[in-house]
Amino acid sequence: MPRPEDVAFPPRKERFEDRRKEGESRKLRDEFFDHSTLLAVSRLITQGQFEALDHPIATGKEGGVFRATTPGGFRAVKIYRIGNSVFRTLPPHVLEEFRRRASAQNFSRLITAWTRREHTILGRLYDAGVRTPEPYAYDRNVLVMGFVGGADGEPARRLIVSTAGADPEALYADLVRQIRRMISRAHLVHGDLSPYNVLLHQGRLVLIDVAQAMPTDHPQARALLERDLKNFARFFSRLGRPTPFDDLWRATGADAVHPPER
Ligand SMILES: Nc1ncnc2c1ncn2[C@@H]1O[C@H](COP(=O)(O)OP(=O)(O)OP(=O)(O)O)[C@@H](O)[C@H]1O
Ligand SMILES: [Mg+2]
Repeated sequence: MPRPEDVAFPPRKERFEDRRKEGESRKLRDEFFDHSTLLAVSRLITQGQFEALDHPIATGKEGGVFRATTPGGFRAVKIYRIGNSVFRTLPPHVLEEFRRRASAQNFSRLITAWTRREHTILGRLYDAGVRTPEPYAYDRNVLVMGFVGGADGEPARRLIVSTAGADPEALYADLVRQIRRMISRAHLVHGDLSPYNVLLHQGRLVLIDVAQAMPTDHPQARALLERDLKNFARFFSRLGRPTPFDDLWRATGADAVHPPER
């Protein structure tokens, strides 16, 4: 039986340069991957979801996103770190829903629930025609989704750092279309939408990081949407396309979201 860490990260050739890189990636690996995470990764590999994990695209306190290789190209693998850091920052309404589903003591189960949630929401958005990565699978704290980036393996950049040369008008129209679909077809609001959670790929926007999305009929949905749209009204105004919040609110059909009682 090969060790799960060798399945997830096949040992490389023994050149000096490779050994140095190997040392660096092992350090990351040890910080990042506990044994059961490596097992989840190797189960996904056995299922044929990808052949091996490649390098990290982004890592943070709560987890990281890795590029993975497949025979036909790349996939993105998001791994939530086992620990309770994610849950300290959760808005109370999300936490409350969680408590109903898993015991609060059992963080590993909570993280699985969170990962499953992101997989499910991605699927709902993808099926509704919202531009998001396609969800492929999840196992425990590991989510496999479509890779947003070039055929050369270069990942798409976040909107916040990649607007140079882009046409603000086209970006605005694209964003409005994505949010409209999200509300009217998927019946969801994102809840953490900002230029940090939108990628720009071949001139088009791709919405990511959706685990905290809420149904449009949730009592908090309207407030969450308001915050999301405020972020983008500011963003487009700074980009040189003056965007009053009310215009964006109307354009996205936001009034359909949990209307207050009359
Ligand atoms: N499917 C994908 N294809 C390519 N890159 C991706 C993909 N998903 C995520 N990324 C990259 O990984 C970063 C982190 O992803 P995401 O926002 O989902 O995770 P996060 O843990 O919420 O991170 P943060 O706390 O920084 O928002 C993104 O900003 C993006 O650069
Ligand atoms: Mg994010």
